[in-house]
Parts: sequence; C-alpha cells; structure tokens
Amino acid sequence: MVGYAFMGAAHSQAWRTVNRVFELPLHVRMTAVCGRDEANVAAAAARLGWQEHTTDWRSLVTRDDIDLIDVCTPGDSHAEIAIAALAAGKHVLCEKPLANTITEAREMAAAAARAEANGVRSMCGFNYRRVPAVTLMRRMVADGRIGDIRHIRAVYLQDWITDPQFPLVWRLQKDKAGSGALGDIGAHIIDLTQFVSGQRITGVTALTETFVKERPLPQASSGLSASTEENGGSGTATGPVTVDDAALFLARLDGGAIATYEATRFATGRKNGLRVEINGSRGSVAFDFERMNELEFYDATEPSGEQGFTRILVTEPDHPYLSAWWPPGHGIGYEHAFTHQARDLVEAIATGGEPTPSFTDALQVQLVLDAVIRSAGHGSGWTDVEPILAEVAA
Ligand SMILES: NC(=O)c1ccc[n+]([C@@H]2O[C@H](COP(=O)([O-])OP(=O)(O)OC[C@H]3O[C@@H](n4cnc5c(N)ncnc54)[C@H](O)[C@@H]3O)[C@@H](O)[C@H]2O)c1
Repeated sequence: MVGYAFMGAAHSQAWRTVNRVFELPLHVRMTAVCGRDEANVAAAAARLGWQEHTTDWRSLVTRDDIDLIDVCTPGDSHAEIAIAALAAGKHVLCEKPLANTITEAREMAAAAARAEANGVRSMCGFNYRRVPAVTLMRRMVADGRIGDIRHIRAVYLQDWITDPQFPLVWRLQKDKAGSGALGDIGAHIIDLTQFVSGQRITGVTALTETFVKERPLPQASSGLSASTEENGGSGTATGPVTVDDAALFLARLDGGAIATYEATRFATGRKNGLRVEINGSRGSVAFDFERMNELEFYDATEPSGEQGFTRILVTEPDHPYLSAWWPPGHGIGYEHAFTHQARDLVEAIATGGEPTPSFTDALQVQLVLDAVIRSAGHGSGWTDVEPILAEVAA
C-alpha cells in the first residue's frame, strides 16, 4: 500500500478484516506500506498492521512476494504508481478520482486493459457503491421496482473548509488534486448515480465557484481534519486556492433520465451529507449516507390510500454483504464498504472475474468531471461528455 493517512487507514482496516469476515479463496498478507517520511511510515506500519515499511514505492512493484499494489496517495501520483505496478504484473486498487487529468486517466485505462490480457486485475475505489443500502438500491432499480427513471437528484455536502483560515492543504491545489469539491466528492455521486441507475451521463451544464481564493500555507501535512490548529495555517504567508470550493451541474443520461448534482465543502453543518434520490414511473428510492443503514422506497403501484415512503432497515442477512456481519438491526459503519471493496477485489482476482468499477469505468467518471470543468469555464454552456476511446474500451 502506498500512502498511509486517511484512506491508508481505511484500506488497512479493510485488509486486516476481510479474511476474518468473509470466506475467500485467497488469504491477504499485509506485506509493506510506503510513505515519504521514514519515521512516520514506520509508525504507521506498526499501527496499521503492515509487516514492513519503505519510502520508495518503486521497490514494492518489483518484489516477487507482492501481488497487489493499493494506491492511497493524492491524485498527482496515481498514474505513475498504477501504470508502473500494472506493467510489473501487479493487481492494482487505486483510490478515486482515478487521475488528475483525462490524459492520465486514458493512459491508466489503457495500461489496465493491456495488463488484463495477462490476468492482472484493477479496480478504482468508489467505495460508496458497496454500502449495502446503495447496492440494494441498484438491485431494486434493476428489478424495475421504480419503473423508468425520470429524475436523479444527488448532493454531496461537507463543511470542513468554511473557515477562511483553514490552510491551503493538497486538496485545495490543482496540481495535487486535479480539482476541488468536484473531483473529491462530486466524483462519488457521479459514480454512485450511474451505478444505481445503470445510465451514463452524456452532457452537462455546470457552475463552479471558489469562495475563499487565498489561504494560509500549511505548516504540517494534513488530510481532512477541520482543525486549523492541527493543520498549521497560523503563519502569515498565504497562497492561492486553485480549485473549486463548490460545483453544481445539470445532466442528461443515456437512458433518458435528467439529473442535478451539487458538490460543496461549504454546506455549513453538513459533514458527510451524501444524498441521492431517484424518481421513476412506478416509485422512488432515496439514500442518505448519514443514515447509511436505511433506504427509503416509495411504491406508486400500491393502492393510493396506502402509499407512502417505506423505511427499509438494510441489515437483513439477505441484503447485500450483510450475511457476514451482525444480526438484523445491529448496523454497520463507514469502514465496512472498504471491507466489501477488498472482498470483491480479492474474489475477482481469485476467480478470474472482472472487478468493478474498472479503470475504464473510472475514466468515464473523469470524462464527466472534465465536461463539468469545460462547461463552467465557458459560461455554463451545454457540454457533451467525451466518448471513451475505442482502444481503451476494448
Ligand atoms: N474513497 C473515498 O471515500 C475517499 C476519501 C478520501 C480520500 N480519497 C482519495 O484517496 C486518496 C488519498 O486521500 P487521503 O484523504 O488519504 O489523503 P491524505 O492526505 O490523508 O493521505 C495521503 C497519503 O499519501 C502520502 N503521499 C503523498 N504523496 C506521496 C508520494 N508521492 N509517494 C508516497 N506517498 C505519498 C502521504 O504521506 C499520506 O500518507 C486521494 O486520491 C483521495 O481523493 C478517497
């Protein structure tokens, strides 16, 4: 695994847990973790359960006793690490968004397609697909329970940078993150809604805004912490914010649905407010991550006097992934979707299956992000999503 902070900790939890919860044909050995600082990565290896540590990720991709590379670094290093690992015959799990540019994403998808021909598997970490209520939502939509999809309404709301003194961390720098709220959290609702609906976005009209244009330079590395003190930022030197703070867009999907998307880190009071509602000709389904063990379902085929939103408690053993966990009603949390992600990837590797979302799926999300940026840069004009090139799709 490369990178050991927020996602590194979540992925480590998944790798530690997966064989203890699920019956799998392969056993995961957490061989080595990589970071840039020797002392910090040594401490992280001990804390997170890795046998060894290194400060050189290149040494990992050439080792015979390593089969899979898990990329948990910011977007500016995804392409280089993932492509080198795939070329060396290693399976790859790469965090989202796949890359910082569509050029990099196309190169990664092409590298994954070449490696796949040699039995090498790859997956992008859109973990919210594997929240059981979301997987159930997809199943119900595919089974026709809401009929033809008309509207998709998706928001991902956070508030951790509303303080203008919050420092200029890597997520606020275009060269490191690619984009702001759009790529960080907007990418999740793009993937999630396409996954659930089975439809893909074909075009957008978009608006982005950067509310705080200059911020204190960070004095310590930082992830998502909202604490200004913990992240430095008390000095006088400042730098420009080069990404969006918020991104809004309307979209058309290829199955006839229309959609609205909102991604922001300035929704004061909203911490991880990922909410999706889908309205169809026979009913609706709605999911809210802050109530992640529930799904709302409205069945418009019921007698009119008995219709109403039903709260489905998604904790039954016949719900996706849940037979391996706790008795009905006992609930699961944020980390479980990462364990489900690890389970699905390990199983695909063991059985020769095709894990999803593939790098090509993640490239398509990147193409939507790119269309949003182009539309917002041209007065919100209607902008088609570029097609996935044939050589990559093959
Ligand atoms: N799936 C999700 O829900 C989710 C949530 C948060 C972040 N992410 C994604 O995960 C990735 C990492 O984000 P994070 O929140 O864990 O960031 P973070 O800042 O918490 O951690 C980044 C880690 O990468 C290391 N690192 C940075 N550059 C490196 C390099 N060149 N070589 C080796 N190590 C390097 C840092 O030392 C740190 O350990 C990003 O792509 C982000 O978009 C996904």
